[in-house]
Amino acid sequence: MAIEQAILTWIHLLAAAIWVGGSIFIGIVFSPILKTIITSTEERIQIMIKVGKRFNKVAVPSLIILMITGLYNSHLLLSKPDLLMATSYGIFLTIKVVLVIALIITYAVHVRVIRKDVEDQIMSKQMPVKQIQKLRKKIIILGEITVVLSVAILFFASLLDAGV
Ligand code: HEM
Repeated sequence: MAIEQAILTWIHLLAAAIWVGGSIFIGIVFSPILKTIITSTEERIQIMIKVGKRFNKVAVPSLIILMITGLYNSHLLLSKPDLLMATSYGIFLTIKVVLVIALIITYAVHVRVIRKDVEDQIMSKQMPVKQIQKLRKKIIILGEITVVLSVAILFFASLLDAGV
């Protein structure tokens, strides 16, 4: 039914807006402003951990919803490998799924870098400055890869939508 399809697309779009919009907001609005307000790297990282944990509460469910609705939308085609590779739509869909897998791996690493013991060390101000700086670099790079992958996934969604 067309209305069911519309609702599925709406949920997929809503989850994409939360996931991509949220990550970009943190990267280009929140962090630069935080940097102008708080000069201590240690305090900034403490705040970023709190923001990240809060964001994860909506970001992780959004990513899961994106996978469920996306796979539901395309399970018929994905279950036919020969057909999948025969059209540009199928090839773009495959690339999109591969990028989503890369995104999930990157995000999982991004979140795991701040394990419980690492977090406790930062929160109780017991981590040496050098180590904090190294950690910060790692988190920034992983965050950037997450955003780049998300934006690339949006491009492949557009190719699918346009029927290129
Ligand atoms: C396993 C994961 C995913 C699968 C299988 C999937 C699959 C799909 C499919 C089949 C469409 C419909 C394309 C068409 O118009 O024919 C679509 C659209 C779309 N997807 Fe995904 N998707 C997934 C994850 C994601 C993620 C992570 C994002 C965001 C970063 C995203 C963003 C979008 C957007 C914005 C559209 C456009 C809506 C539309 O025109 O239908 N998707 N996706």
